[in-house]
Amino acid sequence: MASTFLCIVLLFLAQSSPLASSASNNLNPGSSLSVENSADTLISTNGMFSAGFFPVGENAYCFGIWFTEPAAADAATQNLAVVWTANRDQPVNGRGSMFTLQKNGNLILTDAGKYTVWSSNNVFSNSLAQLILNDNGNLVLLTLKGVALWESFASPTDTLLPQQQLTRNTKLVSSRSLTNYSSGFYSLFFDNDNTLRLLYDGPEVSSIYWHDPWLLSLQAGRTTYNNSRVAVLDALGNFSASDGLNFMSSDYGVKLQRRLKADVDGNLRLYSRKKPGDRWVVSWQAIAEPCKIHGICGPNGLCTYEPSSGRKCSCLPGYEMRNKNDWAYGCQPTTEGFNVSCKSSTARDQFDFMYLPRVEYFGYDYFIYVNTSLEKCKAICLELCNCPGFHYKFGGGHHNCYPKTQFRNGYRTPGFKGELYLKLPKSILSSYNATAKEFNMCSSKLTSQLSRTYEKKSTNGSVNFMLKFASALGGLELVCIIVVWYFVMRSSKEKEESDVVTQGYLHAVTGFRRFSYSELKKATRGFKEEIGRGGGGIVYKGTLCDQRVAAIKQLNAATQGEAEFLAEVSLIGKLYHMNLIEMWGYCVEGKHRLLVYEYMEHGSLAEKLSSNVLDWNQKFEIAVGTAKGLAYLHEECLEWVLHCDVKPQNILLDSNYNPKVADFGLSQLLHRSEVSNSKFSRIRGTRGYMAPEWIQNMPITSKVDVYSYGIVVLEMLTGKSPAEGIQSSEGGGETQKKMMVSRVREKMNGGFENAESKKREELMKVALRCSEENRDARPTMTQVVEMLLHYQDDSESEIGNS
Ligand SMILES: *[C@@H]1O[C@H](CO)[C@@H](O)[C@H](O)[C@H]1NC(C)=O
Ligand SMILES: *[C@@H]1O[C@H](CO)[C@@H](O)[C@H](O)[C@H]1NC(C)=O
Ligand SMILES: *[C@@H]1O[C@H](CO)[C@@H](O)[C@H](O)[C@H]1NC(C)=O
Ligand SMILES: *[C@@H]1O[C@H](CO)[C@@H](O)[C@H](O)[C@H]1NC(C)=O
Ligand SMILES: *[C@@H]1O[C@H](CO)[C@@H](O)[C@H](O)[C@H]1NC(C)=O
Ligand SMILES: *[C@@H]1O[C@H](CO)[C@@H](O)[C@H](O)[C@H]1NC(C)=O
Ligand SMILES: *[C@@H]1O[C@H](CO)[C@@H](O)[C@H](O)[C@H]1NC(C)=O
Repeated sequence: MASTFLCIVLLFLAQSSPLASSASNNLNPGSSLSVENSADTLISTNGMFSAGFFPVGENAYCFGIWFTEPAAADAATQNLAVVWTANRDQPVNGRGSMFTLQKNGNLILTDAGKYTVWSSNNVFSNSLAQLILNDNGNLVLLTLKGVALWESFASPTDTLLPQQQLTRNTKLVSSRSLTNYSSGFYSLFFDNDNTLRLLYDGPEVSSIYWHDPWLLSLQAGRTTYNNSRVAVLDALGNFSASDGLNFMSSDYGVKLQRRLKADVDGNLRLYSRKKPGDRWVVSWQAIAEPCKIHGICGPNGLCTYEPSSGRKCSCLPGYEMRNKNDWAYGCQPTTEGFNVSCKSSTARDQFDFMYLPRVEYFGYDYFIYVNTSLEKCKAICLELCNCPGFHYKFGGGHHNCYPKTQFRNGYRTPGFKGELYLKLPKSILSSYNATAKEFNMCSSKLTSQLSRTYEKKSTNGSVNFMLKFASALGGLELVCIIVVWYFVMRSSKEKEESDVVTQGYLHAVTGFRRFSYSELKKATRGFKEEIGRGGGGIVYKGTLCDQRVAAIKQLNAATQGEAEFLAEVSLIGKLYHMNLIEMWGYCVEGKHRLLVYEYMEHGSLAEKLSSNVLDWNQKFEIAVGTAKGLAYLHEECLEWVLHCDVKPQNILLDSNYNPKVADFGLSQLLHRSEVSNSKFSRIRGTRGYMAPEWIQNMPITSKVDVYSYGIVVLEMLTGKSPAEGIQSSEGGGETQKKMMVSRVREKMNGGFENAESKKREELMKVALRCSEENRDARPTMTQVVEMLLHYQDDSESEIGNS
């Protein structure tokens, strides 16, 4: 009985010990932080960072550093923004694990009180050292003289903090998945040619995917000559690297909390937030099109854009997923039919090709056969045993044939001109009805799933430990039962918590919610401050309860039902792009339909054009940004979100004059009933900006937005609005446009010397091509982006040379 009592007392002590110790920012030699005591956490003096143990799965912990305050939406779920981890690949047990600063100055992390899983590997016995968590998030081991023996900044995991240098010896490595913090496949590092790159290093192959691998470093705006290999982000949001890479966060200029992270999906993103507890927002990202990141769908997988999750993986026809839980392993041929040897001619006869338009597989060409007919190309691929198919592309005045050896890095994109011919046994082809039309990748049900389950880490160690502990006390079985019961309860509670963490993270990523009408009424102080009209409703400025300033749009008459509205709105809400207005939420109550957007400080492009305050560089950047936003909307499988009303009033400018396209998807929301099978039955848009297809009763495609974009650029160039001078006649806009075009043509003949006027020339070319009457003569938005970006790079390197 005595020992039962003792045990209960011990448990009580263990429970209440958090009260006993108070948070500090340093650890003295000979002391430890224990995984069992949640108060064993170092907190930087400014409170921003914490260092200690955090759970990564069932009874699995890592030692690391994180932003003390989780984002507000995640407060309940304790989802942490971890910035450094000591033992990401070897989590430790929840019992007996310790992080210790030994008396000799070495830092060690021990698992279950036994095995050393990590060590700072420095021994320094003379002058006693101290471990300090600095205000900038750096955990530093200092001698009494203030010399740093070891620092966490020198061994980053997946995150770079302001002032932390990325060097020749360090790299950022992504986590394996949202819930598995171990080293993943993507990394940011300085390559042998001194340039900063993103690498996919998967289970079978490795490849560089950023900067664009087909560009020479110089074309990508990088220099290979500076071999100091160092990159750093400053507190204001300016990132600069010795290879000339320089970018600024979209909220540059303010001291915010920031972190640059190699994300699990292979993208490099800069996150920022104004104050502790705010939601993290993406203020820069390296890759706008998620499908261009290598390795995401594995071999024989195909990536397509999908609004709800950003991107989606599927297998090529005739292939199936190799590992049902992990797309990294891609797809393999389905068993039946693929076994036929290619050597015999009878076997060859059993194969034929399926045509897949606009599918790109990067790399792994067997050879390039120039000026080759389709039949010849098919014959070549049939002869090759390991040729799974080929690309057939037009270039240099003839068709070229690219037989593949493997299918990797595949994605489907509207911008890609080539055609893929997939070699398949006839037996399989017939089941696809011999045409690619049957293979609608947009409706494929397979979705990308990262492994979200943790294997149960054996609790054997802790049970053993408790057994010894109990027997030392006298071995009363009752004691053991109480103790074991206590830990079983506790670990099942931890499991629940870690499940919630996963959901919380996903929610934080989309950050989209439903508001009540009274909440929005309060935010806008009774719909007082009107800041705009049009697009089906009136827009008010408001301040949400978390102090974010929002633009709240009250839609006119609600025509569709609540379910329809919700379906549509949640799709729009999930679109994320730097150049699209972000939707934070919506309200649907009775007949009220409201949308909540981020507020844009500099209003619309229309206002800025009429007050003539933009310089040429700004105009150029606005044209590029707008094109990027529209190109993103036009990606395959997103045809439904044609904008249909591109005009300067719908291009908004943030505090840095970055453009964001507004009101996309609204035409669907407002005229849902009229959209059937992508036929638009009624004319939409604004006079002057509308493509001729609307009037000529031709099919409406993404080229209508291209036309409107062209007119907007014309307006930026000439300062004349196409709406000017339109009276009641249909042709009014047309005449005005002709005037704008001829003005631009005149100017183009003027000659261009400096970089600025070259930018203007490029804009003129783009404007004229986009506003062609014939829609086939207009480029796609993706091509426009490429034209402008290509030019942007050129001009920068020219400036650099002069
Ligand atoms: C950003 O940093 C780079 C390199 O230090 C510097 O050249 C550039 O002027 C900085 N940009 C701004 C806006 O401070
Ligand atoms: C190389 O880059 C570093 C860091 O950006 C810079 O300080 C240094 O001046 C550069 N060296 C040369 C030779 O340009
Ligand atoms: C496929 O080939 C393997 C050996 O290459 C053979 O063992 C197997 O029976 C074949 N299967 C079919 C369905 O032909
Ligand atoms: C392509 O091949 C055809 C026939 O083989 C030939 O007539 C034509 O001149 C070739 N074109 C080029 C550009 O080489
Ligand atoms: C194949 O296509 C034909 C004509 O297009 C159609 O009638 C038939 O139902 C299709 N078969 C399958 C299995 O989809
Ligand atoms: C996390 O990923 C690593 C690497 O793929 C794997 O070995 C490990 O088992 C995973 N951990 C869990 C808990 O799933
Ligand atoms: C516990 O550990 C022992 C030895 O380490 C092992 O033999 C036994 O199978 C383990 N039990 C469980 C449930 O994992």
